[in-house]
Amino acid sequence: MISKHTIDKVYETSRVEEVISDFVNLKKSGTNLKGLSPFTNEKTPSFVVSPVKQIWKDFSSGKGGNSVAFLMEHERFSYPEAIKYLAKKYNIEIEETFKSKEQKEKISERESMYLVVQNAKEYYKNNLWKDKEGNSIGFSYVKERGFEDKVIRDFEIGYSLNNKDSYFKYAISEGFSRDFLEKTGMCIFKENKAIDRFRARVMFPIKNFSGRVLGFGGRILSEKFKAAKYINSPESDIYEKSKVLFGIYESKKTISNKDLCYLVEGYTDVIQMHQSGIENVVASSGTALTIDQISLIQRLTQNIVVLFDGDEAGLRASLRGLEMILEKGMNVKVCQFPEGKDPDSFSRDHSTEEILDFFDKNTKDFIQFKADLLFQESQTDPIKKADTIREIIEIIAKIPDQIKSELYIQECSKIMNISEEVLFNSLSQVKTKALYQENIKLRDSSKIKIIQSEKKSNEINQSFELEYQIINILLLYGDREEIFNEIILKKNDKGELIEEKVEFRTKVFEKIFLDLQEDEIEFTQNSFRELYKILINHFESKGSISIDDFTTKLSPELSHLVSDILIKDELYKLHDWEKKNIFVKERESNINQMVIETILTLRKNLIDKKINELQDSLKDSEKTNDDILSDVISYHQLKSVVSHKLNRVI
Ligand code: CTP
Ligand code: MN
Repeated sequence: MISKHTIDKVYETSRVEEVISDFVNLKKSGTNLKGLSPFTNEKTPSFVVSPVKQIWKDFSSGKGGNSVAFLMEHERFSYPEAIKYLAKKYNIEIEETFKSKEQKEKISERESMYLVVQNAKEYYKNNLWKDKEGNSIGFSYVKERGFEDKVIRDFEIGYSLNNKDSYFKYAISEGFSRDFLEKTGMCIFKENKAIDRFRARVMFPIKNFSGRVLGFGGRILSEKFKAAKYINSPESDIYEKSKVLFGIYESKKTISNKDLCYLVEGYTDVIQMHQSGIENVVASSGTALTIDQISLIQRLTQNIVVLFDGDEAGLRASLRGLEMILEKGMNVKVCQFPEGKDPDSFSRDHSTEEILDFFDKNTKDFIQFKADLLFQESQTDPIKKADTIREIIEIIAKIPDQIKSELYIQECSKIMNISEEVLFNSLSQVKTKALYQENIKLRDSSKIKIIQSEKKSNEINQSFELEYQIINILLLYGDREEIFNEIILKKNDKGELIEEKVEFRTKVFEKIFLDLQEDEIEFTQNSFRELYKILINHFESKGSISIDDFTTKLSPELSHLVSDILIKDELYKLHDWEKKNIFVKERESNINQMVIETILTLRKNLIDKKINELQDSLKDSEKTNDDILSDVISYHQLKSVVSHKLNRVI
């Protein structure tokens, strides 16, 4: 893990406006910066960056947060990837937290393996561009295949020399140990003699999501040789074939922007399509798609179009894996190329418009496609037809979204000329069977749950509003001193209890903190609870709050919440200032009222909740319980006191 010290330093150093302007063209607008949203295709800028508060907000997509949140959203980085990116940008050295000796060894072993393949990639690239053999054989081959300099560079294609150990010699001279050359599979050792795994091949580096090289695919130059067309790096601690998609690094931004991913089979398909300007494409590298690979795509989009080569033979087998995509709730479509064509050759022969037009006309929904295919096969054989229907229904049953599955049923009914009713019946049979198999019984108890959860969701909405309001007040006015009126009970000279109205000055955050503590109010929303704790700690240790310092240090989710509140406030002020500044003043002079009102409402809510709970427990126990009843009554009394106070405030 990255050390806290490094993370703090990254947060301290990075400036949201500098980070974002590497991706978005920003122009000054008052104290803020503005630009076109990088998340939508808007014409008028609604993407706002506040250097003062160190936050950003995109009004067209609703997204917002601090620098880390931006990188996670825009570059699709994970949290550590975003921190690492910033550390690199600001030249901050990354410290890892303490690890056991074995953990460290494992990590440094993996790091060493990464270094080996990273260095090998540079070596092969250099061969292709600069070496005599590499240039005359390797480079001419890729050129002949129609790759231009740009994609050769973008995909960092290389060449391995036609010699049994020239890479080995080079790697040793660079100081890499035999151990890691073997572990990465770059060299094979036989009777202590080293042989390069890749010889006389065009080298395609295989990268992970964040661009690290994991291994290679090497293509032979002529199919006349009796060797395998492709040789790939073996599985290792850094290369797990089932978790990698070729092209994901080069395509991820476009996949996310277009909200669509094309899936192809081979290295050359991806590269050729990129060259044709279709940059949202990845390859499963000739194997059946895995769940991990689908998850990788799902980080970027819910929509997949699978492109099939124009031969029927492989088609049915490959269709099977696609059901997994449906199970994940994603949308799958398929498109088959004309006989004898694959994405590579088709893209080579057609213009970008022609390719997109072809996709447009030939892309079919997966289930529809499968239904068509199966139906054609079974049309003349009634028994086969029944099997076919069952097969399709079983696929539809896997779709988590009910509306979607109903649409499919309607579609299939048309294709197969069977009534919807029959199809719905068999769907529910399949589903019931699945439910039964998963041991989900007791339908009645699930009904009760639904009713309860409706009641719950109402409560949740109310607490959400109130908790949001508390955070809002703390962020905007937490360190202000305000005068609050309070009624306290006191003994007079005669020893009688009397009510006395007192006025006291205190900071808003103290008032809130003490009142909530007194009532033992816990926030129901995790993120609010977390934010509340951070805010109170911040106020207690510093007395006031410096917004820019505060926002940069928040987790991406919390920063999203905070940026929402802060930017809304800013626009509100700006907006009203332009008209009459009277609204702002009015709002600011009523802060104490706002605080008291919010706390009282929160109390009233709490009491309501208690009353509900008690009443529920009364229902559950058969006998009437006097203690519970009297509790209910006193809570009702308390509620009327609170409501009374609340009315006075309002
Ligand atoms: N593949 C492999 N080993 C093989 C054949 C294929 O690993 N012996 C993988 C490669 O990732 C390849 C993909 O399966 O990219 C698709 O195979 P194929 O269509 O035969 O290769 P293409 O990528 O189309 O390569 P080319 O156009 O150069 O023939
Ligand atoms: Mn192919």
